Amino acid sequence: MLKKIEISEVKNPQEMPYALLLLADPSKEVIDKYLKKCLVFTACSKNKIPCGVVALYPHNNKTIEIKNIAVATDHQNQGISSKLIDFSIQQAKKLGYEYIEIGTGNSSLGQLYLYQKHGFRIKRILTDFFVLNYDEPIIENGLVCKDMLILVKKP
Ligand code: ACO
Repeated sequence: MLKKIEISEVKNPQEMPYALLLLADPSKEVIDKYLKKCLVFTACSKNKIPCGVVALYPHNNKTIEIKNIAVATDHQNQGISSKLIDFSIQQAKKLGYEYIEIGTGNSSLGQLYLYQKHGFRIKRILTDFFVLNYDEPIIENGLVCKDMLILVKKP
């Protein structure tokens, strides 16, 4: 388990950690569309280089979404995304949102485990979301990623 990480907001667009964001979302075009409205936070360990990112997208005054969360491959399985999820839930509460939600693909089995472990419950399914919005097929865990599952939690 990693001892200490610092989470801070990315305010300068030049400092957007695209290499991390692209781990969670294969399309830079799609990322750039939602990023304009997002609050973006990075997790850094002692060398100050971002090893994790979370982008929070306000839908309206009730709901904020974890639109993108990713951890550098050499820092995975050390609890960093768990810290970013807990931080996001705290931010949602602090900012007065009633709900925090997160969407993931039907094939993202580990992520579905992770989000449910943090108290998110499956609320909606956007059938064929990935087929309609991405040029290339996405395959994970031997499954074609077709549908987006939306999980929701009260912060
Ligand atoms: N498969 C199985 N279990 C997993 C996976 C996985 N892919 N990822 C995390 N877990 C489990 C861990 O085993 C751990 O379980 P435990 O607490 O019972 O021991 C728990 O989830 C927490 O793990 P962390 O160490 O906090 O997770 P990590 O920092 O490694 O980050 C993440 C997980 C963000 C999914 C990382 O693997 C990653 O960046 N993947 C690529 C990008 C991605 O898929 N992002 C999510 C896309 S959906 C979206 O962005 C809204």
